[in-house]
Amino acid sequence: MIRIVYRNPLELWGEPSYNEPWISVTGVGGPLVIANDPALIRHVLVDNAKNYRMATVRQKILRPILRDGLLTAEGEVWRRSRKAMAPVFTPRNIFGFAPAMLKRTLEFAEGYVDGSVRDIAHDMTMLTYEILAETLFSGEIAGEKGTFAQDIDRLLETMGRVDPLDLLRAPDWLPRLTRIRGRKTMAYFRGIVSETVRMREDRLRRDPEGAPQDFLTLLLKAEGPQGLTRGEIEDNIITFIGAGHETTARALGWTLYCLAEAPWEREPVEQEIDAVLADEPDPAKWLERLPLTRAVFEEALRLYPPAPSINREPIEPETFKSLYIPPRAAVLVMPWVVHRHRKLWVEPDAFIPARFHPGNRETIDRFQYLPFGAGPRICIGASFAMQEAIIALAVLLSRFRFDTVTETRPWPVQKLTTQPEGGLPMRVTRRKRQ
Ligand code: HEM
Repeated sequence: MIRIVYRNPLELWGEPSYNEPWISVTGVGGPLVIANDPALIRHVLVDNAKNYRMATVRQKILRPILRDGLLTAEGEVWRRSRKAMAPVFTPRNIFGFAPAMLKRTLEFAEGYVDGSVRDIAHDMTMLTYEILAETLFSGEIAGEKGTFAQDIDRLLETMGRVDPLDLLRAPDWLPRLTRIRGRKTMAYFRGIVSETVRMREDRLRRDPEGAPQDFLTLLLKAEGPQGLTRGEIEDNIITFIGAGHETTARALGWTLYCLAEAPWEREPVEQEIDAVLADEPDPAKWLERLPLTRAVFEEALRLYPPAPSINREPIEPETFKSLYIPPRAAVLVMPWVVHRHRKLWVEPDAFIPARFHPGNRETIDRFQYLPFGAGPRICIGASFAMQEAIIALAVLLSRFRFDTVTETRPWPVQKLTTQPEGGLPMRVTRRKRQ
């Protein structure tokens, strides 16, 4: 079991997990509850959220990297930070990022050669990285030019791993061999982030009007006794990088893959995009004007949720209906499982974007579809990600058609996100009408 968890936790879940409202077992790592019933999920994530903390294993993996960033902060620090960061993610600020998202995607699309076969999974990571670097720092990053993207990869690769000792809940003083190598990378990376923040602070002092209105400026505006500390600003920059670019990249890659496997769904999406782009130049308006494109993206998020598991632990044991949730139980709300649950969805494994067309979408229970989580800890970047994805899909699909080739046989593997093992090799062909 530990071997499977290390290699690919998605392979752990057998047929009962996809049929039962919940499963409660005691494994090597202690008691485990899999929560599938939307009412139970609502109980854990919303109604009784105050009785649930972030799961110990998740915190052990992520806290050394993200420290008091929003994803890993708890208690008072989390409450203060979430409040301080609300103004950063207002619709006005998100719309303000649309031109940068468009610019980066257009530049990226320029690089595609008609007829070439590319690893789309890798390409989408590059694209979302470019968008994040632009919206986070407007490209004003300290350190050696052009190495930041590789530094992030190295950091997540070395630090963001499940160590078998964590799963066994071994004491903290036992060194995690899988993470020792990451410490140097971590210190180097943190150095670059603090220097970047310092540079921006200087610029804001010299030229408050001229400084870019990106995430970094917005976060610095949230600094103060009621807001964020300097350390928390740095932690949140690293959190946005960790939580906000690979997730969206995975979602885009899986969407292009699903569309290539279902050309009858791709046609109407291409037509929709062609019509809207022809008369709406403002990319901030595309999300509301492209319901079919949004539906294919939401359906891909259902089948391949980039964050496949939301993990909690009860502070006090409790009973929900006939289910006893024991102390220290790992309570797993797994979008991967819930989104494919046999009792919750018709043809759960099929790609059917019509589920999310206006009129149908409203019939889906709020707690059976959770790509961004739910409750007080719902993804703060959800609308940023939706806008980014629709702009990226609109630009890419208006110019290119993505088709699978014989080597395209991705196997979904749970790392920090749901990744396609073997990549997503696909042929990129320029569309005739362009
Ligand atoms: C398709 C893209 C994305 C997906 C699927 C996704 C998914 C999630 C999920 C499921 C959670 C809840 C975790 C939990 O309850 O334990 C979460 C939280 C979070 N996400 Fe996202 N996310 C995405 C994009 C982003 C972006 C673009 C950003 C930032 C720019 C971001 C920043 C965060 C942060 C800071 C949290 C922690 C919120 C809190 O605990 O208060 N995410 N995300």
